[in-house]
Amino acid sequence: LKFDIRPSANPTPEKEREAKLENPGFGRIFSDHMAIVRYTQGQGWHSARIESRANFPLDPAGAVLHYAQEIFEGLKAYRRDDGGVNLFRPDANARRFQNSAERMAMAKLPEDVFIEAVEQLVRIDRAWIPGGEGSLYLRPFMIASEVFLGVKPSAEYIFSVIASPVGSYFKGGPAPVSIWVSENYTRAAIGGTGAVKCGGNYAASLRAQAEAIDHGCDQVVFLDAIERRYIEELGGMNIFFVFDDGSMLTPPLGTILPGITRDSIIALMKDSGVRVREEAYSIDQWRKDAASGKLKEAFACGTAAVISPIGKVCSANGDFAISGGAAGPVAMGLRKKLVDIQYGRTNDPHNWIKKV
Ligand code: COI
Repeated sequence: LKFDIRPSANPTPEKEREAKLENPGFGRIFSDHMAIVRYTQGQGWHSARIESRANFPLDPAGAVLHYAQEIFEGLKAYRRDDGGVNLFRPDANARRFQNSAERMAMAKLPEDVFIEAVEQLVRIDRAWIPGGEGSLYLRPFMIASEVFLGVKPSAEYIFSVIASPVGSYFKGGPAPVSIWVSENYTRAAIGGTGAVKCGGNYAASLRAQAEAIDHGCDQVVFLDAIERRYIEELGGMNIFFVFDDGSMLTPPLGTILPGITRDSIIALMKDSGVRVREEAYSIDQWRKDAASGKLKEAFACGTAAVISPIGKVCSANGDFAISGGAAGPVAMGLRKKLVDIQYGRTNDPHNWIKKV
């Protein structure tokens, strides 16, 4: 599949672009182009293009608008000090995208087409990568576009990649975030879609996230759907715990999203001889361990969130602080280690970086 590259006839003027890159926030500013590839049953993937970012023509009966057959990914392009550009583990995103497609009964996009679309978009919009600690957040996604109201897998899909220059996901930057424990809502059940990146999972998290915000918290944390005790994940990121013996714990895969940042942290900690258990951990145990001092730190992680220390946990049964509400040294050290690899400031022992 060869991409037809059609540069925009009126790209954003440099001055305007530079002004937008100054303080980009998260997810509100977009680059000039997008990648698009179409799928038609019987014909396969076709019409691969890089073109001006624009609205999609979508019929009101397009399947995605009714039954939410939609999946997405998130990865970042980083500007190296030498002016080059790094992608971080795009192959892992491409693989996860295939798993998501399979679960949602969608056409599977070949991994090389996923990566090519991302790379071509980064090449044409490389001026949109902020300097410093910013990055270009890439959002590959796929929607069911067949015009049909019956409930069945769509016969047509649109795959696209858009790009958004970003700074920190949280308004406070890497300052500790507060977490609200959702006792009224769950995120995923066994056999459900919790382990894949479909838009519906995030739609279903919004009510709980709104409850978190009502309680003055930054993010919601979900408990398991059976016993309603075990920590699963946050609204849009995974979670780790750090103990006084130096060991770490993160909830096991199954109903949670298998985060690429999560996986990278496990690998980096193993490299430095730290034991990371992938085990169930209950909210009651969390509260006890925070009180006894056995728990030293907790942090959230994800492509968007990077590594964000958790300073406070709030719930209907009362609040408790972690590491006195401050950013812990393990989380901050790990954040630096990871970010240094992503920006190409240090060696890359696992060959995670793909230069563009
Ligand atoms: C990411 O970390 O890339 C995510 O997908 C989280 C959120 C923005 C949905």
